[in-house]
Amino acid sequence: MPELVAGTGTGSGFKMPRFDFVSTRVSLLRLVLIGSACWLGGCGGGSGTVAPPVVTTTGSVAQKYADYFPIGTAVSAWHLDNAADTLTRDFNHLTCENAMKAQNIHPTETSYDWAEADRIADFARSHGMKMTGHALLWHRQAPAWLFAGITAGDPTSLELLKSRLKAHIEAVINRYADVVDNWDVVNEAISSDPNKVYRDASEQSQWYELFGSEEYIYWAFSYAQGALEAIAPGSSLGKLYYNDYLVTVKVDKILAMFTWLESRGIHVDGIGFQSHENMSWPSAGELESAFKQFAEAGYAIKVSELDVTVYDDSALPEVPYTAELEAAQAERFAALFAAYRATKAISSVTFWGIADDRSWLNYVPVPGRHDYPLLYKDAHTPKKARSAIMDF
Ligand code: GLA
Repeated sequence: MPELVAGTGTGSGFKMPRFDFVSTRVSLLRLVLIGSACWLGGCGGGSGTVAPPVVTTTGSVAQKYADYFPIGTAVSAWHLDNAADTLTRDFNHLTCENAMKAQNIHPTETSYDWAEADRIADFARSHGMKMTGHALLWHRQAPAWLFAGITAGDPTSLELLKSRLKAHIEAVINRYADVVDNWDVVNEAISSDPNKVYRDASEQSQWYELFGSEEYIYWAFSYAQGALEAIAPGSSLGKLYYNDYLVTVKVDKILAMFTWLESRGIHVDGIGFQSHENMSWPSAGELESAFKQFAEAGYAIKVSELDVTVYDDSALPEVPYTAELEAAQAERFAALFAAYRATKAISSVTFWGIADDRSWLNYVPVPGRHDYPLLYKDAHTPKKARSAIMDF
């Protein structure tokens, strides 16, 4: 996830989100301390304390986009219990917000905690929805046991790390292969630093640190590809994606990584644009040109974690959600969706949540600063943005 800080875009003069290396460590600590409740138990509210929202709205976003792409959202078990009507009305694709991350689903080397992911997968199955498997390998939200006892540069312990990764990937894929149609095999491995290609130890990647290179990315894709092949040889069951933030400024690095993976026998299906956007950057035009580069190289594109913060700068104080702000945000969402519709290679568009009350952006980058990044307000009533993306 990007740290949102003031900075200028690629000559555009816009404020853009970029990774702030100085504050990264502070930010990580903050995320762990303040965001842990959000990550582990779901953001905002607190289970059991929020009355089930009443949704009064018309139409269905998913139905409106039926000829374009599935419309997904990230969910926890809370959403199944408290927002099922909205979920089934507007969305036809699900991502586990946290439940499939290694730390949650594989808490010790010998035990898996399938409970929440199973509930979400069963909900998806019973409503005819497919899912995104998020995420098989990520430097964050990875359990400590995964790296325990591994020494960088020691080939024997590296084999142990590989065998742990393989076991993890195979177990998760085997359990959800019937309902997951695309996997985030590797999340956030490319550096936002223009002087580097891959995220390394200085950017908290224990994977890079222990392997001493980007080699771990190859192994993750290789194990995922092997697991899917073993289930259904030669089939196209489960597409393999690389997922990241700030993709518009990482296109060349990511395409070079794909070429390297393909040269080693990996078939990468596509790129996930996390798309934690702000109100002005990246522009729809910048996005379309990045989409085009991936599409022309033969890769599918998914928008995997869409939200639109109303703060273009982490230094900005909290603002109320005025009618003007709601209208401006609706226009921004409309422009983004026009760009998605114009791009034939988009395979899905997934929001990172349903309503503002539980967004991670209420915690990051400024703890307690209320944000308004989604299609539904705190009270789970629809926003103008929802109408705007259906107005075409
Ligand atoms: C990243 C991850 C997601 C989620 C968001 C913010 O983008 O890929 O799983 O953790 O950050 O919550």
